[in-house]
Amino acid sequence: MEKIFGMDTIHYKLEIAMVPHRVVDEITANRERYVEELADFLRIPSVSTESEHAADIRQAAIWLAKKLQRLGFQAELHETPRHPVVCGHLLADARLPTLLIYGHYDVQPPDPLAEWITPPFSPSIREGYIYARGATDNKGQCLTYLAAMEAMLSVTGRLPLNVKVLIEGEEEMGSPHLGQFLQENREFLHTDAIAISDGSQFASGIPAITYGLRGLCYLEIQIQGPSFDLHSGSFGGLVANPVQVLVEILSRLKNPDGTVAIPGFYDHVVELPAEERQEMSALPVDEGQLKKYLGIDQFVGEPDYSLMERRTARPTLDISGIWGGFAGEGTKTIIPAKAGAKVSMRLVPNQHSSTVAERCKNFIHSIAPSAVKIQISEMHGSDPVLIERDQPAMEAAAKAIEFGFGKRPVFIREGGSIPIVGLFKEVLECGSILLLGWGSPDDGAHSPNERFSLEDFHRGICSVAGLFYALRECYKT
Ligand code: BES
Ligand code: MN
Repeated sequence: MEKIFGMDTIHYKLEIAMVPHRVVDEITANRERYVEELADFLRIPSVSTESEHAADIRQAAIWLAKKLQRLGFQAELHETPRHPVVCGHLLADARLPTLLIYGHYDVQPPDPLAEWITPPFSPSIREGYIYARGATDNKGQCLTYLAAMEAMLSVTGRLPLNVKVLIEGEEEMGSPHLGQFLQENREFLHTDAIAISDGSQFASGIPAITYGLRGLCYLEIQIQGPSFDLHSGSFGGLVANPVQVLVEILSRLKNPDGTVAIPGFYDHVVELPAEERQEMSALPVDEGQLKKYLGIDQFVGEPDYSLMERRTARPTLDISGIWGGFAGEGTKTIIPAKAGAKVSMRLVPNQHSSTVAERCKNFIHSIAPSAVKIQISEMHGSDPVLIERDQPAMEAAAKAIEFGFGKRPVFIREGGSIPIVGLFKEVLECGSILLLGWGSPDDGAHSPNERFSLEDFHRGICSVAGLFYALRECYKT
């Protein structure tokens, strides 16, 4: 299949009425069964970061491969040094365009468990939502593609496009092995467009196409003081306290105005064009409602940027966790031997995670006292991405969303990261990456009581059917 990027090579005419009515009827008739299947998938505790779940991860991968095989795909598990990648394809006709569908079957750890109203891996339906870890991120959104394909296949016997599927089990760990997999399978993964539903709508009822993702640089800092915990009476005043050193270092990473204090951190940051700022300011943000949802009274951050800009288009630094010393019941008078912290930095164009990691490490080493040993390791790195908005595949996606959700989508940047997307652009040389979130920002991804609206699940399935037919049209030459 020839690669088509420029508008001029495309004859683009989009009418979504092309989705056969019978496909929509089939999707509607099977709504409940799709939810039952989602519940089965959600029962598998496929937490990628915890080694005790390795067997569950594999079970989730097998579940997907079998599902794809039942749809007629040639599908298999590809081993990586850690968790398998599920890969499959179903080719309709060499003259038709090819779509690659990417998603992840791994989930974040469910803790704190006590906060869940029903257990994270016992899916429960309440007031139109399915609650479980992975409901929205990413199992529910991923299954919209499988459900839509099942409907199209059962009604028409074929898909309107050639389809390749790549669903990985390491996204929540930063996709450490997928880059190599892309390199090794470049030819197989070559495609006209890539669809990813691993984000959300702008707000519930305001569907969106995401054209920007932030990158991520995630560091772990470990500080070693004395060889073992010491009596603070006997040795206090002589020995550097690693917890004290750690908090002093951490407190110097940011300025009081919310900016990051690491020298050179902002060097490559591209300022937002005025036009884009204006467009962002037109998005309806209800500050009061957002505060209420978050349980806070006040926002912080760079004063010269709007909430939306700070959340999606400005770089940040956050301490994800900190440990060290005694925090149990009562008192224990010690100088702890160790302390540590995990720090995440969200990056925007044109920052690079490797440069930022280097600068952050150098800064920490330059301010650290010589009385302790410091070790800094890079846990994840992924670069920010922007996707060209002015291209036919985007218009096809907009039509598809309009078809499924009954509304034109808004175009947004997202603050989160999907580590592999940058490599899709670079290694697979695919510029038509469609980030189409069906979920809602208040679905609680990574939080207790994660959920997915059954209505959004259904609309997502309809949108996928719309996308297939719209893409077929837009790549017609
Ligand atoms: N689904 C998210 C990414 C996302 C979040 C997209 C919010 C749009 C809006 C994805 O599964 C995720 O959580 N990614 C991690 C990556 C990390 C663990 C390497 C993230 O952003 O923290
Ligand atoms: Mn996630």
